[in-house]
Amino acid sequence: MKKIWEGRIAKKTDSKVEKFTSSINIDISLYLYDIMGTIAHVMGLSKIGIVEKVELESILKGLKEIKEEIEQRAIETSGYEDIHSLVETELEKKVGNVAGKIHTGRSRNDQIVLDEKLYIKDATIDILKKILFLEKSIIGVAEKYFDTIIPAFTHLQKAQPVIWSHYLLSYFEKFKRDILRFFECFENCDYLPLGSAACTGSSYNIDRNFLKEILKFKDVSSNSMDDVGSRDFIIDFIYSCSITMLHLSQFCEDLIIYSTQEFSLVDIDESFCTGSSIMPQKKNPDVLELIRGKASVVIGNLTQLLVLVKALPSTYNRDLQEDKKILFSAYNETSESIEIFSDLLLNLKLNQMAIDEDLADGFLEATDMADYLVKKGESFRKAHHVVGSVVRYCIENNLRIKDLALEKLKEFSPRFEKDIYSCIDPKACVDSKKVDCGTNREMVRTRIESGKKLLGDFEMRLEKIKKRVISFEELISNIPVT
Ligand code: ARG
Repeated sequence: MKKIWEGRIAKKTDSKVEKFTSSINIDISLYLYDIMGTIAHVMGLSKIGIVEKVELESILKGLKEIKEEIEQRAIETSGYEDIHSLVETELEKKVGNVAGKIHTGRSRNDQIVLDEKLYIKDATIDILKKILFLEKSIIGVAEKYFDTIIPAFTHLQKAQPVIWSHYLLSYFEKFKRDILRFFECFENCDYLPLGSAACTGSSYNIDRNFLKEILKFKDVSSNSMDDVGSRDFIIDFIYSCSITMLHLSQFCEDLIIYSTQEFSLVDIDESFCTGSSIMPQKKNPDVLELIRGKASVVIGNLTQLLVLVKALPSTYNRDLQEDKKILFSAYNETSESIEIFSDLLLNLKLNQMAIDEDLADGFLEATDMADYLVKKGESFRKAHHVVGSVVRYCIENNLRIKDLALEKLKEFSPRFEKDIYSCIDPKACVDSKKVDCGTNREMVRTRIESGKKLLGDFEMRLEKIKKRVISFEELISNIPVT
């Protein structure tokens, strides 16, 4: 295959080197962005008289055809070095020498950054849509089982009663921060790099503001050397993916544990489980386990990219070609995981009988009992000691606290009165946590309502940024008819 740089390098490239340096199998995924960037650039060149009107028309027609041919798999891509040389060479086949003009004042170094920025803007919107759906699902399930009380665990040991919705909303909060992080990602990559060329900037008076407008960037970038060598906009994106995957992974881990026969708090729908090839009784939570596994892949992607760029000298270095597979992996794994997890959550059932049994054991009411004594005038430390002794007594005699008669309780502290029994009921324990971050049912109800309102605000913000991405059709429709 003819090389776009063969003027300088006369010798035929070693076939192993050709295969080794080629990135077409990976960056073919960027074809749409590469063609859109090229369309915009050529329009810019026409504006400053480098490409004539008739040339512009035939180039644009050729580029549209190349897009369709790639989509119909009508182009043999394997011999090309990368997506940029594919587009230029295929265009040359269609329009002849005039194709040689499309690279005026542009380098593959700024071109690839443009492609990646357009890709990330779209990817961010897709992920935001999916996390917003997940958040809605969390709220929906929180409302469905609003009153159900489950044990809260610390150190994976039974701690205190909590309502299921409060537990779920703990994840709503995590994903809320993730949403904000992705909105920030969108802003961080919204600067047009075209005009930077190889590293010092283009020597043609390219109208960057015009390009910014037609490609719908927020602004133009400020330094060509920074542009071609920086990938922190991708790091931000993969970091955001990593945190979301980390949150999903923790959620999955909870549900894997809660769905075991030993805990039996939740039931994962069979359509999200698989069986064992040998043990007929098994129902395995594979989807949850896979998301937990994919979290490691994405966190690994973040490390890969950080290490890739950490010691690079300024501006473009070929190492950067490796960033695409890292980016695509992080995006695909994250997007797919959020989507399937939401579906699983919507189909999750609570195992009420097992939950009730579970609440009765484990002395979940002990902290409330100590708080009761404090309200009767005891110091917390003394109250803690008294209740600890009550619990020890119950364990030794195989009893529950509510089974102890008042006279027995008074042996531990004379401050116990009849009203202790209503205070240690799980509902009372839950409702006593009236702080605005607590599990009191009214507080949680308020949180659900404010959560819904916040989601409405996020939806509006998402609609706004959707208008800040350019589609192929829109770009084409903006081309003045001559
Ligand atoms: N495909 C390359 C990349 O992904 C584009 C830049 C190539 N530039 C160069 N000077 N070889 O980074």
